[in-house]
Amino acid sequence: MGRSGRLFLLVRPYALLFVANLVATFVASVLDGATFVLLIPFLRTLFGLAPLPELGGSSVERVLAVVVGPLLAAGSAQGALRNVVLVLLATLALKNALTYLAAVSSVVIQENVVRDLRVQLFGHLQTLPLGFFQRTRGGQLLSRVINDTDQVKTVVTAALASLMQNVCVLVVYVAILVGLSWRLTLVAIVCAPLLLLIVRPVVGRVRRRSREQADQRGELTSLVSELVGSIKLVRAYVADGFEAARFRKLADGYRKGVLRAQRFALLTSPVSEVFAGLVIVLIFAVGTRLALGEAGVLRPETLIAFIAVALRLMSPVKSVANYPTAMAGALAAADRVFEVLDLASEEGDRPGEVPARFEQRIEYRGVSFAYNGQAPVLAGVDLQVLRGQVVAVVGPSGAGKTTLVDLLPRFYEPTHGEILMDGVPIARFTRTSLRRLMGIVSQETILLNDTVLANISYGRSDFTLEQVQAAARAANAHDFVSQLPEGYHTLLGERGTRLSGGERQRIAIARALLRDPPILILDEATSALDMESERLVQEAIDRLMAHRTTFVIAHRLATVQHADLIVVLAEGRVVERGSHATLYAAGGLYRRLHDMQFRT
Ligand SMILES: Nc1ncnc2c1ncn2[C@@H]1O[C@H](COP(=O)(O)OP(=O)(O)O)[C@@H](O)[C@H]1O
Ligand SMILES: [Mg+2]
Repeated sequence: MGRSGRLFLLVRPYALLFVANLVATFVASVLDGATFVLLIPFLRTLFGLAPLPELGGSSVERVLAVVVGPLLAAGSAQGALRNVVLVLLATLALKNALTYLAAVSSVVIQENVVRDLRVQLFGHLQTLPLGFFQRTRGGQLLSRVINDTDQVKTVVTAALASLMQNVCVLVVYVAILVGLSWRLTLVAIVCAPLLLLIVRPVVGRVRRRSREQADQRGELTSLVSELVGSIKLVRAYVADGFEAARFRKLADGYRKGVLRAQRFALLTSPVSEVFAGLVIVLIFAVGTRLALGEAGVLRPETLIAFIAVALRLMSPVKSVANYPTAMAGALAAADRVFEVLDLASEEGDRPGEVPARFEQRIEYRGVSFAYNGQAPVLAGVDLQVLRGQVVAVVGPSGAGKTTLVDLLPRFYEPTHGEILMDGVPIARFTRTSLRRLMGIVSQETILLNDTVLANISYGRSDFTLEQVQAAARAANAHDFVSQLPEGYHTLLGERGTRLSGGERQRIAIARALLRDPPILILDEATSALDMESERLVQEAIDRLMAHRTTFVIAHRLATVQHADLIVVLAEGRVVERGSHATLYAAGGLYRRLHDMQFRT
């Protein structure tokens, strides 16, 4: 579906409101035109003529005679004048009331559309593969969800509301003009296509630049969000000057781009106004000739009303002429939003997938993996784990340990081979049910800007405080949590910086314990901890591992000596496997890694 079709779909839920908006606008335009047409009886009274010509006159005047004629016919010139003024005020009040309603409904429509689009985009982001997030800068995403969706509302208001409003006004006014004098109207209409010729080159130029600008805006957002995320690094390396210069350069590039495009875009308004001025002069010239020439073709008061309405037409003409330029930026933003929406979602359950079940064994069979087309990170890994066993994966960093366990919850799919659960390939299971079987504690614990309680019960609201406390006790976290100012209701700061590494880790362990999953994945959960907290964390982990099938990746080999199976990984291949005793005796890589750690 084309872009405009998709934009239209966004507005469709608000079609009724939209139609109401159009009707209000249309009626307001008619009333607005009427205020000008009321000039005619006013001027005629002023010139000492009857308020309306008895016979003949333009069609507008005939309509006027029917609608307000009785009001004007009665009494003196003074009385008629007063009546004209009253009608004028009433028309003005009604017109503005309608204009206000139309404006409010426009805002309602546009904000609803933006909300819908944001929610849709956010929802879609959740379904994108992990690789997408690793490739894409966070700031660009932020910019797409926040800035670009907001720009899209310009399309909605400009394209649908404002354009249609202006077209309404144009139609009504041109009808009034035709009603006043079709000859003069013809003069104006013949000139109109010229305006398009003037505006076109500008639009092309602005359109080409707009995409560039939207991307640059995204880069700016990225830089800010990255600075916030790495502020400690920036301070530590005294890199603030460097960062400021980088940001300045980007901001300046953006400024230049916008200036280049705007210098042209801003031309449309003055050019179209001067052009409209010329047309008015032309109307004056032709109009005076008609008014002064052959009697009856055009009355002076009609000419004045005609000019007044024609002048009033300038602003909608300008808006319509400006419209393609104004739209260019919004359309570029819409493209950036639709690009993300068009990415194939990988997450989410597929038809034919069934709920995962795990009773006896997990098996990696000839599993290879490469991150999007790069060199393989895992090559032909075979592995069998029985229910209740503890498997330790060890090896130098970069060997592929994390990747190996990331395949189990289907964060990524193997490029070759398969992983089976009780003989069923896990690709047949829904991801949600598969992941519910697992508790994952990774090296970097991610804490949310929320309470301890919310952090432990993350993503679910059906756990009681007692359950959370029990999990925290088992994770050796209860004691320090109780000492926090508000206990389990203490807010953890931005990224939980108020807690130490060991404390964060224990919160993460409590999170996994609370769910009581049959499979546990511990990826270097104890690395980078001091001795005391390591003992506390290790105790928690031992409790966590009891009666569960566990994959444990550990730097410190002391922590894996009691594993049922130790798998040694090097450059993506399993190079050794066995128990601590056999591997140690074999004197291979495991022995070397072990000796390096225990040399002191
Ligand atoms: N998201 C990723 N995209 C591309 N390459 C990656 C990604 N994650 C890890 N790698 C690469 O895969 C290899 C194995 O990484 P990893 O599984 O994290 O090793 P380990 O956990 O054993 O240290 C490394 O060479 C690393 O650079
Ligand atoms: Mg790792």
